[in-house]
Amino acid sequence: MKEKPLLSALQGQRQKRPPVWLMRQAGRYLPEYRRVREKAGGFLDLCYTPALAAEVTLQPVERFGLDGAILFSDILVIPDALGQEVWFVEGEGPKLSPIRTARDLAGLSPTWCGQRLEPVYEAVGLVAGQLPEGVTFLGFAGAPWTVATYMLEGGSSRDFETAKRVMYTDPAFFGGLVDLLVEGTVDHLCNQISAGVDAVQLFDTWAGVLPQSAFRRWVVEPARRIVEGVKARYPDCPVIGFPRGVGVGYIEYAKATGVDGLSLDVSVPLDWARTELQSLVTVQGNLDPQLLLIGGNGLIEETDRILEELSGGPFIFNLGHGVIKETPPEHVAALVERVHGAW
Ligand code: CP3
Repeated sequence: MKEKPLLSALQGQRQKRPPVWLMRQAGRYLPEYRRVREKAGGFLDLCYTPALAAEVTLQPVERFGLDGAILFSDILVIPDALGQEVWFVEGEGPKLSPIRTARDLAGLSPTWCGQRLEPVYEAVGLVAGQLPEGVTFLGFAGAPWTVATYMLEGGSSRDFETAKRVMYTDPAFFGGLVDLLVEGTVDHLCNQISAGVDAVQLFDTWAGVLPQSAFRRWVVEPARRIVEGVKARYPDCPVIGFPRGVGVGYIEYAKATGVDGLSLDVSVPLDWARTELQSLVTVQGNLDPQLLLIGGNGLIEETDRILEELSGGPFIFNLGHGVIKETPPEHVAALVERVHGAW
């Protein structure tokens, strides 16, 4: 079997040619995605139709020759599978019927998870059977704090007023929700691994809005429990953590959770990442998605700077956050060519 450079990088081996994949590499910036999306109807219908979810997962891999494929799905399939109502409004993003009371919480059950998510695991199996040789297949889930913000706010939020009020004033209720999410997330990740993914990433998009004590309790500790739960069943499966925006907290996160890789947001200084983080784990990142949208010399120069700083150790090239939907696909092609041509 041909070696998988991205998987090897996650196992701590420096690659001569840095592997590259991009968060949100499948999506509306690709015309071939928009065509499938139209055929599928709603966004969640696309996530739950195995043949179509598999097709859009493979689109960017085939078009750009990326080293990684990330399953096409969403972090909000977990609340959906737990029995919360989830829908997407065009131009507004996700909407959920918010969880407000202990009764709402008691109505959610991880035992429903498996069945609702069967099509997701079926999609994993389809992709695993069609993946080009040498490409690493990544599964993922949202981390409890980030998923809880959507569940409590009823959608996207700017200041997380409701989620923080619940977290600060009713830790028993909030802890119950986090426990449920830890359990569901371990199951969901393990099911993806058993269906064929090589590694998984835990997205904690809103980790950076919490003060230290809350960061420890609601970001680091749940991630540690999730890594422990996954490794208990799949000790060799690498886990990448993405605690976006936590600054120096990346060090504590790396040390305390047991992740194999850290996905760095755009603000993480490269020299600091090299000395403080890359000595602990594989690092992944962290090109500004806005530069990918703009293209040109700025894109190439910043790409070269990242490669120069981080490709001396275990490293995966990626963005600091997801591809923006107005990004010209040609810019992505130019980026992948630059990374692959670098060494
Ligand atoms: O990276 C990939 O290519 C894999 C697929 C993926 C999606 N969402 C597809 C998607 C992944 C890994 C996610 C994760 C996700 N979803 C996160 C964490 C990572 C991040 O970006 O911070 C979050 C916070 C969500 C929740 C979510 N899903 C939001 C806020 C939105 C709306 C955004 C928008 O642009 O409207 C979604 C929808 C969504 N998830 C889309 C895609 C491609 C756009 C839906 C469409 O096609 O209309």
